Amino acid sequence: IIALVVTIFLGYLLGSISFSYLLAKHLRKIDIRTSGSGNAGATNTLRVLGVGPAITVLVLDILKGVVPVWVALLWVGESSPVIPALAGLAAIIGHNWPVFFHFRGGKGVATTIGVLATLLFYPSFIAGCIAIISIVVTRYVSLGSLLFGIMTPVMAWCLLPFRFYPYEYIFLSMLLMIVSLWRHRENVSRLLSGTENKIGKKQM
Ligand code: G3P
Repeated sequence: IIALVVTIFLGYLLGSISFSYLLAKHLRKIDIRTSGSGNAGATNTLRVLGVGPAITVLVLDILKGVVPVWVALLWVGESSPVIPALAGLAAIIGHNWPVFFHFRGGKGVATTIGVLATLLFYPSFIAGCIAIISIVVTRYVSLGSLLFGIMTPVMAWCLLPFRFYPYEYIFLSMLLMIVSLWRHRENVSRLLSGTENKIGKKQM
C-alpha cells in the first residue's frame, strides 16, 4: 500500500510538470496554452517554438511516463501489476490536469507513450509504427495520436496468445484510449470536417 500511494503521488507530481509550458515561458515569455492550438504538448511546441524545443518536450514528457512506472516496477516487481499501471495513469492525469498549472495541461500522448512502451512494449511499438506512418502520410499528428491510443490495446489483445501481458496493463491501455479520445474530441471533429491542422504548414 505504501508503494501504491508513493508511486501514484510521484507519478502525479512528475506528470504535472508541464515542460511545454515551462519552455514556452522561458524561451518566448508566452503561455503555450494561448498559442497555436492551445495545447500544452510537443505538437503545439513544434508549431509555436520549432523542432528543437518540440523534441525536448517530447522526450521529457515521455520520461514523465517512464520514470514512475519504472520506480513502481523496481519497487514491487511484476507481482502487483496494478501498482505500475496506476503510477503510469497518475502521470498521465498529472500531464492532462497538472496541479501546478491550474489543471490545464495537454492531451497526454507523449506521457502515454512512455507508460505503454514500458508496460506493453510490443503492442505499443506496433501501434507507434502505425501512428508514425499515418502522420507521415497525412501530416495530422492528432490522427497518429488517436491511432496509437486505439491500436495499443487492440495489438495487446491480438498478441495475447503469443505473449502474456497482465490484464491490468491491457485494461489500462483501454482506459487510456478513452482518455485520449476524450482529450482529442475537438481534434476529432476537426478531422471529420477536414479542418484539422497539418504539421509542416504555417497556419492557425
Ligand atoms: O499530442 C497532441 C496531438 O495529438 C494534437 O495536438 O496541438 O494539434 O491539438 P494539437
